[in-house]
Amino acid sequence: MKLGAFELPNRLFVAPMAGVTDRPFRQLCRRLGAGYAVSEMVTSQRALWSSLKTSRRADHAGEPGPIAVQIAGVDPREMADAARYNIDRGAQIIDINMGCPAKKVCNVWAGSALMSNVPLAVRIIEAVVAASGPHNVPVTLKMRTGRSTGEKNAVAMARMAEQAGVAMVTVHGRTREQGFKGLAEYDTVAAVKAALGIAVVANGDIDSPEKARLVLDYTRADALMIGRAAQGRPWIFREIAHYLATGQTLAPPTTADAAAWLTEHLQDHYGLYGEVSGVRSARKHIGWALRELPGGEAFRAEMNRIDDCRTQVSAVTDWFARLAEQHERLPRLAAPAANDDLIELTA
Ligand SMILES: Cc1cc2nc3c(=O)[nH]c(=O)nc-3n(C[C@H](O)[C@H](O)[C@H](O)COP(=O)(O)O)c2cc1C
Repeated sequence: MKLGAFELPNRLFVAPMAGVTDRPFRQLCRRLGAGYAVSEMVTSQRALWSSLKTSRRADHAGEPGPIAVQIAGVDPREMADAARYNIDRGAQIIDINMGCPAKKVCNVWAGSALMSNVPLAVRIIEAVVAASGPHNVPVTLKMRTGRSTGEKNAVAMARMAEQAGVAMVTVHGRTREQGFKGLAEYDTVAAVKAALGIAVVANGDIDSPEKARLVLDYTRADALMIGRAAQGRPWIFREIAHYLATGQTLAPPTTADAAAWLTEHLQDHYGLYGEVSGVRSARKHIGWALRELPGGEAFRAEMNRIDDCRTQVSAVTDWFARLAEQHERLPRLAAPAANDDLIELTA
């Protein structure tokens, strides 16, 4: 699949998830089969660009290309500036967030709230495309199906985005009103795909290789984007890739491999966040990795009391070594539940 000048290795994308898909996690997913990853959202508010959080989000050191940065905001000029700022820092693709339902973003008419203000949304898209075009940086758009069940305007919005020069549209099959409740639907995604000449990506509730096949066939989308199902299970990308290519289910990873991936991820994570902050923010990744494993819940409580990186890594390593004595391979994991409480949207 092509995106601008970039040939993507496959059509399985990591969804942008604020507080989750930082550079270490994106790199891990890429290593384990994802063809493309979008950064966590970066605010368009200039005053916040120098904050530690935003500068970490704009850190792409060592990341394989294409580097895609998602921006969120409400002011066309600010959004254009944000695009240029991130392009100067290595962004090769700019993604506009019109999919996030969180209040912090929507109260100021950003995120999915922009789907209720189409003229403003179009002005934002045009401004970002005008800022990115001279750098040959494609602009993509991530959106929902509409504001509410009665107001699904994804097809109209996507058409306008295409006319304004957007190179690819991702549709999360829920309305803004739904947040993360209910199930994602794929009729609207299929309708967007049928209406557009540019690439369309299907997103929402894809949590297994079988579901991936189903959504691809049903929507005829060019690619799939996966978010929550990759938390604690980043190898889902290679499982899906294998299933799409062969129709066969890949065996779950060995416990030793899963342990090695997690500990390497932890080291990378501490590298980005430092000791104090890193040990805390790593807990959620460890928690997700353990969530469905035998004895995982009990260890999770114990692990949450650990306050230094070295002890955290050795506790994880020892726990997995004990698990490996009983289980050479991980048991098949159930799909994770929605966790919108984790959405963390400050710049
Ligand atoms: C913790 C969390 C943070 C998220 N942050 C963003 C974000 O920054 N930008 C965005 O466009 N979507 C964000 N989303 C939405 C996801 O990209 C995705 O559209 C949604 O989770 C549905 O896909 P899934 O069912 O595969 O998780 C977030 C979702 C979660 C769970």
